[in-house]
Amino acid sequence: MCGRVAAVVYLLAFFAVRPVLIRGLGVTDLEAGELRDEVRDMFYHAFDGYMQHAFPLDELRPLTCVGEDTLGGYALTLIDSLDTLALLGDRERFGAAVEWIAKNIRFDINKTVSVFETTIRIVGGLLSAHLIASDYSTGMKLLSYNDELLHLAEDLAQRMLPAFDTPTGIPFGSVNLLLGVDENESKITSTAGGGTLTLEFGVLSRLTGNPVFEQVTKNAVRGIWARRSKVNLVGAHINVFSGEWTQKDAGIGTSIDSFYEYLLKAYLLFGDEEYLFMFQEAYKAAMHYLYHDPWYVEVNMNSAITVWPLFNSLQAFWPGLQVLYGDIDPAIRTHAAFFSVWKKYGFTPEGFNLASFSIQPGQRSYPLRPELIESTYWLFKATRDYRTRYGC
Ligand SMILES: *[C@@H]1O[C@H](CO)[C@@H](O)[C@H](O)[C@H]1NC(C)=O
Ligand SMILES: *[C@@H]1O[C@H](CO)[C@@H](O)[C@H](O)[C@H]1NC(C)=O
Repeated sequence: MCGRVAAVVYLLAFFAVRPVLIRGLGVTDLEAGELRDEVRDMFYHAFDGYMQHAFPLDELRPLTCVGEDTLGGYALTLIDSLDTLALLGDRERFGAAVEWIAKNIRFDINKTVSVFETTIRIVGGLLSAHLIASDYSTGMKLLSYNDELLHLAEDLAQRMLPAFDTPTGIPFGSVNLLLGVDENESKITSTAGGGTLTLEFGVLSRLTGNPVFEQVTKNAVRGIWARRSKVNLVGAHINVFSGEWTQKDAGIGTSIDSFYEYLLKAYLLFGDEEYLFMFQEAYKAAMHYLYHDPWYVEVNMNSAITVWPLFNSLQAFWPGLQVLYGDIDPAIRTHAAFFSVWKKYGFTPEGFNLASFSIQPGQRSYPLRPELIESTYWLFKATRDYRTRYGC
């Protein structure tokens, strides 16, 4: 699941979702407090480790305890952590971080970066922190704050615009922030890469009054959707010049996942029904061709013949999305199935084969993905059912 801006959507959705049943055992205030403190400690363990050993580089390598620039060399982890600092009520560190970023971060740098990662982490991180720092009702309003993060986000997004200059409107996967698209940049991008930009760019347009950001990302989504198959499925990889699918496996996980997510959330956030109509068609097709209750498979986007009977870890956002859409019953069953994989291994491997019911060879790893816990959270919000807490 991606995007800081998404938090706003969650709030909207929370009020839209109807609570189903209250059953099971609650958590006492004492237990809740202990769990909260444990989460806070875990965050500070990671955040302080980053600040001490890696800042201002992008990320901390946890074994060697040194920093590394993995994205653009713009203090990625600090920007990515802003909203969490605010959520924890840490005015001091939130204020210091905003001030440091405003003074030190620049995007006129000769770096080729991922359009997708830069949008969801950096543009999204800056915009959500901007909204938090500007608003008394968050309790985090900074008196000295003067829209610096909004200006940074706008400058960064401007530098990504050349990526959208393609015949299909679907952006290149990477762009150089100083020089535009590299001469030999790959013309192949993933569906998620082209379809996971609308929330951040749309919010940027609304905040700056410059419609171009919203337009290019909506155009990218239309470019993908226009090339859907006759049965309303999309593939995994597409050529942004010819519009041909170079990887035709349709699924709800790897390479496609947040295309679905952002269709619904863009509707929830902006009220733009074009996104809802696309989502409804896409969702109906996914439930018809990909859903083998309670699992999801990957099929050829044209023939709908199964190519991979595979659970992959990224699919775990889906029950949460279904909660936002109000489709709770299949979400409960799928979440239980995904959670059974978690219980079997203590985490969700990247790939779990549904034919052999074992880890897909070469896909053992778990890069700390948040999808399953996010779905768990949304299902709890919708049902108030504590069963997931006890793993039963
Ligand atoms: C950008 O960086 C590349 C190498 O990464 C270098 O060859 C090129 O000269 C640089 N261009 C500018 C304008 O700084
Ligand atoms: C792009 O590819 C061509 C042909 O392989 C090569 O001659 C050229 O140097 C490459 N350009 C860059 C910027 O790498």
